[in-house]
Amino acid sequence: MSTGDLRNIAPLLDAYLSYFEASRTPFTIPGHKQKAARLDPGLGALVDTDIPLYGGLDEIKLTNKVLTHAEKLAADLWGADFARFSTGGSTHANQAIILALGKPGDKVALSRTAHRSVLSALVLAGLEPLWLTPEIDQKTGVPIGIPLREFERVLAEKPIALLLTEPGYLGTISDISALVKRAHEVSIPVIVDAAWGGHFGFHPDLPQHVLAMGADALITSVHKALPGYSASALLLAKTQYLSAERLEQSFETTHTTSPAGALLASIDATRALLQSRGEELLGELLENIAIFIGTVESKFTQPLFLKPSDFPHGRFDPAKIVLRANQLGASGLAVEKALGTKGIRVEMADQDTVVFLATLTDSRADFEFLADGVIEIAQSLQGELRPSATALSWSVVPTVGIFMRDAYFAATELVSSTDAVGRISADLIAPYPPGVAVIAPGEILTQEIVSGLASSHKAGVRIAYATDPTLQSYRVVKK
Ligand SMILES: Cc1ncc(COP(=O)(O)O)c(C=O)c1O
Repeated sequence: MSTGDLRNIAPLLDAYLSYFEASRTPFTIPGHKQKAARLDPGLGALVDTDIPLYGGLDEIKLTNKVLTHAEKLAADLWGADFARFSTGGSTHANQAIILALGKPGDKVALSRTAHRSVLSALVLAGLEPLWLTPEIDQKTGVPIGIPLREFERVLAEKPIALLLTEPGYLGTISDISALVKRAHEVSIPVIVDAAWGGHFGFHPDLPQHVLAMGADALITSVHKALPGYSASALLLAKTQYLSAERLEQSFETTHTTSPAGALLASIDATRALLQSRGEELLGELLENIAIFIGTVESKFTQPLFLKPSDFPHGRFDPAKIVLRANQLGASGLAVEKALGTKGIRVEMADQDTVVFLATLTDSRADFEFLADGVIEIAQSLQGELRPSATALSWSVVPTVGIFMRDAYFAATELVSSTDAVGRISADLIAPYPPGVAVIAPGEILTQEIVSGLASSHKAGVRIAYATDPTLQSYRVVKK
């Protein structure tokens, strides 16, 4: 298929482009009517390419069922029974699926590497987490997923679902098939927040996608590993252990009633791209990444990047570029800052790691530019090699004081960081990225957590969602 043909196999993309090819005089929303440039060129540049679903991609009454058709094409491609396109990111898709699981008071087995959006969804749904701690790889210090024994440990508490985050932020993956097998033995669904794994399953050198591994639901951000519009996401599910009616209800309960057409069309176009050219494009990407890593590492005597060979077969995403700053003897945050002066922005940096997001859109020339920049900076910043330490986000084992939902709605007060030790947090606090909670509402603020957050903050990591972003004080549940 040649460039430009996608609209022939992507009904929403075709509907979007057709809208602008026809003449129109809208007396409907959106209020900008694609002619806000009349009012101001800057505003026009922002909004004049925006059309809604209702009265844009389709008639006001959705008579053409273009969205339904496009969602069916996605369901077929991923082998799902249910597919919905979200304009609210994986955040919304996580909310939708979690609201569809059970009733307030029910428990779910949940990976501690879950994104903040999952925890917020639990508060909305009234579900309580049974935390599962990831296993840490001794050699690299990175979390390598939830071991089966962790899941076994909580089964006696009768979780109604197993919720995983796969791949993790650093590209590692649990042994999903084993976890799915066990969950299905006790007749509960496995829900996977695969926000970073939208490309899985479309190249033989990549892991399969989680539905192919037997999971019951896959949530992915089309704007992360895939080239969709910001906040576009896919919710895909099989309905043996999940109810399609409840999924539909909770998806609509939490979605906007005015979804933006460009976001929806970008999901459809991305699906069509993966279907028609996914293997070819992902093959090029994987080759470019391998050349990039080889080029950089050829200048050093020690390995600098995480690689699939560091982990059991199929347990690492080869499209993930993770620089191990400790292997360089440099601070990941200093590497990030130096790269910034060259106009290179990275997805995440902490003391020991720098994560670069590479996607189908990156060209060979982009990787060459990146390699030149990384080599120069790595050579200038390298120092004494450090043993790998495990970042706070991956190492905290929570101590639950009261239910998360009770803490969320409790009367609270701000106390100094010293007085906060031993108290129950009312806030969720997470270094961002990766957005993984170091403390969640209802959990006890330990000395390790308070000191760990303070030193991450001091080192330049953005600490998100704390009521007091300086971390001088903490919002805790009143005694
Ligand atoms: C694992 C995970 N899940 C969900 C989300 C939320 O995704 P979105 O930004 O598409 O709402 C993120 C965002 O970084 C994430 O890392």
